[in-house]
Amino acid sequence: MRLEREKVYDPILRGVHVWNALVIVLLLLGGRAGGWLGYTPEAAALRYFHVLVGYGLVLGLVARITWGLVGPAPARFSGLWQPRAWWRMARTREFFPTPADWGHQAASAAVYLLLYLLLLGMVVTGLALAAINQGSGPLYLWLGHDVTLKHLFREPHEAMEYAVLALVVVHIATLILHEVRHGVPLAQAMVSGFQYRKVEEEEE
Ligand code: HEM
Ligand code: HEM
Repeated sequence: MRLEREKVYDPILRGVHVWNALVIVLLLLGGRAGGWLGYTPEAAALRYFHVLVGYGLVLGLVARITWGLVGPAPARFSGLWQPRAWWRMARTREFFPTPADWGHQAASAAVYLLLYLLLLGMVVTGLALAAINQGSGPLYLWLGHDVTLKHLFREPHEAMEYAVLALVVVHIATLILHEVRHGVPLAQAMVSGFQYRKVEEEEE
């Protein structure tokens, strides 16, 4: 058994991945800490900072969506949208088949799409909360300081926060599992761009 490798992920996709990962970790930590600190001046500053970082996520998502439309094949949405493979997985119950192609595997692609959908939900509810709680942002003209609507956005924002956290944990756990169980250096792929896979050694 030997490993073969191929340059799969381009530098822009890798840059956007690092940006989004950092921003999401900051949003998870800052959002929770803001809640724990209650109504102190530090909490108010943290909530303001949370919204600033939130705009960072808007930028990151716009960059990812643009690259999903115009980028190279492994970065395109067609690489993430794999209904046939998902159907096959559901029928055969084989969730981690030997990869046939380079790029995202079907199960991971489904998780990434779900994560992006949740992130879009976080942006919409977050911008609404920024308008209601802080009187700022692009939704201010519609929702500015309208506290009667707060519950419509706060509860979904919080529920989706748990879902985002869960998917990030699943993502990291899966990367570790691949490394340890399958002996394939996967985690570095979004740093170096190289994906590896095992191939049978041919008999001499
Ligand atoms: C903690 C926050 C993180 C988030 C939110 C996150 C999110 C994502 C997303 C959304 C994708 C899909 C990429 C695409 O759009 O095509 C992805 C792929 C990937 N991420 Fe992360 N990531 C995080 C951390 C990390 C870390 C720490 C590593 C390891 C160094 C890593 C390694 C990878 C790899 C290797 C892939 C591609 C895997 C594959 O081929 O399917 N990620 N990540
Ligand atoms: C991964 C994305 C995000 C996560 C994990 C996250 C997490 C959180 C958490 C945990 C809270 C506290 C809820 C509570 O107090 O019970 C919160 C509140 C809030 N978030 Fe986010 N958030 C994200 C994205 C965003 C974005 C993109 C924006 C806006 C651009 C935003 C704006 C807000 C606002 C305005 C509040 C209420 C703060 C206040 O009370 O003034 N969030 N978020």
